[in-house]
Amino acid sequence: MKSPLSSSSSSSSSSVLIRKARLSPYLFTLLAFIFFVAILYGEDFMCLLGRLDPKSGTLLTRTEKKWEKLPFAIGKTPEGCDVFSGRWVKDESSTHPLYEESECPYIQPQLTCQEHGRPDKEYQKWRWQPHGCNLPSFNATLMLETLRGKRMMFVGDSLNRGQYVSMVCLLHRLIPEDAKSMETFDSLTVFTAKAYNATIEFYWAPFLLESNSDNAVIHRISDRIVRKGSINKHGRHWKGVDILVFNTYLWWMTGQNMKILQGSFKDEVKDIVELSTENAYRMAMRSMLRWVRKNMNPRKTRVFFTSMSPSHGQSIDWGGQPGLNCYNETTLIDDATYWSSDCQKSIMEVIREEFGKSKFPISFLNITQLSSYRKDAHTSIYKKQWNPLTPEQIANPVSYADCAHWCLPGLQDTWNELLFAKLFYPQ
Ligand SMILES: *[C@@H]1O[C@H](CO)[C@@H](O)[C@H](O)[C@H]1NC(C)=O
Ligand SMILES: *[C@@H]1O[C@H](CO)[C@@H](O)[C@H](O)[C@H]1NC(C)=O
Ligand SMILES: *[C@@H]1O[C@H](CO)[C@@H](O)[C@H](O)[C@H]1NC(C)=O
Ligand SMILES: *[C@@H]1O[C@H](CO)[C@@H](O)[C@H](O)[C@H]1NC(C)=O
Repeated sequence: MKSPLSSSSSSSSSSVLIRKARLSPYLFTLLAFIFFVAILYGEDFMCLLGRLDPKSGTLLTRTEKKWEKLPFAIGKTPEGCDVFSGRWVKDESSTHPLYEESECPYIQPQLTCQEHGRPDKEYQKWRWQPHGCNLPSFNATLMLETLRGKRMMFVGDSLNRGQYVSMVCLLHRLIPEDAKSMETFDSLTVFTAKAYNATIEFYWAPFLLESNSDNAVIHRISDRIVRKGSINKHGRHWKGVDILVFNTYLWWMTGQNMKILQGSFKDEVKDIVELSTENAYRMAMRSMLRWVRKNMNPRKTRVFFTSMSPSHGQSIDWGGQPGLNCYNETTLIDDATYWSSDCQKSIMEVIREEFGKSKFPISFLNITQLSSYRKDAHTSIYKKQWNPLTPEQIANPVSYADCAHWCLPGLQDTWNELLFAKLFYPQ
């Protein structure tokens, strides 16, 4: 496999990757970080599934190909080009970042890294170069014109919210100040472009199904319970949407079996069964695909699904010192086969199997691999801290670095460039 980075091998990049010297490890740092992440994100860094062999080929070609022409398509990706397989190159033409952090008032303070003191900006200047073709450049005018009189909605967790905000930032410049607004109603955030009669929305549903983590402000993070067969609880808010973008992943990674509720949350005696993470996730995928088949029109609407967003919680994954994480990382991982150590391969298999059976053409945004090279792109410590930091934390930034979420502008703009490519130039 080729390197995901183009350095000496590519004329379009002059960057040389220099590995930073690292400090000696602190064990307590690692433990503190695992504890922090387990609490905040439920990420299971202890999952020992190991690395499975990567499978070749993408499944979406299959689901998408059943259809002669998908809605919104204006062309095709060149035959045989998998836009998700490629490498990061330094953007010498300076089109990236596609907007400035200070120009986009919609970025939540958890993602404004520059405002919160991030010293470097290189993480904003990479572009994704597929091996087999070029990505079309993101055309905000075309995107907005396409959304005229329509609704686009992102449904999922905080990572999908990041992609949603990125999309709003990519488009809002075209709309005059008094002709746009963003409002939040419980789980739903709506950006309105008045002159276009268009909305771009985000709906918080970290499991897609009903769960005890559905409060959009105070997320329940421990002892998660998901209710079987409950997709309509949230799905009724997605009806009538023209372009839907789903994600769900991080919240399933509890490191234990998932608790699945059979009855209702109101039942006095709750009937709960435990399923493995994979089987619980499979159940959610089946519910989602069934909902899509019943509620979306394949001749008029499109459905996207964004794959698992990788975290960079332990440096030893990429050959670093134990006890460190994404904190201070400013370079990319230069190993094309790199895949982070959490349970993602088995979840990817579940997605492959279930989407492979789908009768509705789902456009799959396979961003996991390309994002896994980007240990430099996380918010790390450069974000709004909701609770005051303790002296111990201040003395040891690794202990509170967020290695799950991504700075904006940054990596998630590329996810939207890929969405743009798949919307207008599907296979
Ligand atoms: C997504 O991409 C990765 C890496 O290229 C690949 O291993 C995986 O099979 C792909 N997933 C699907 C469902 O196509
Ligand atoms: C962007 O899309 C608009 C609307 O389709 C089109 O008129 C314009 O030429 C496109 N711009 C570029 C740079 O391709
Ligand atoms: C505005 O868009 C909605 C769909 O989001 C549509 O139902 C409505 O008819 C549109 N209104 C106008 C005035 O075009
Ligand atoms: C992070 O980088 C700063 C500045 O280069 C350095 O002083 C510090 O020791 C580094 N910390 C870690 C944990 O690598």
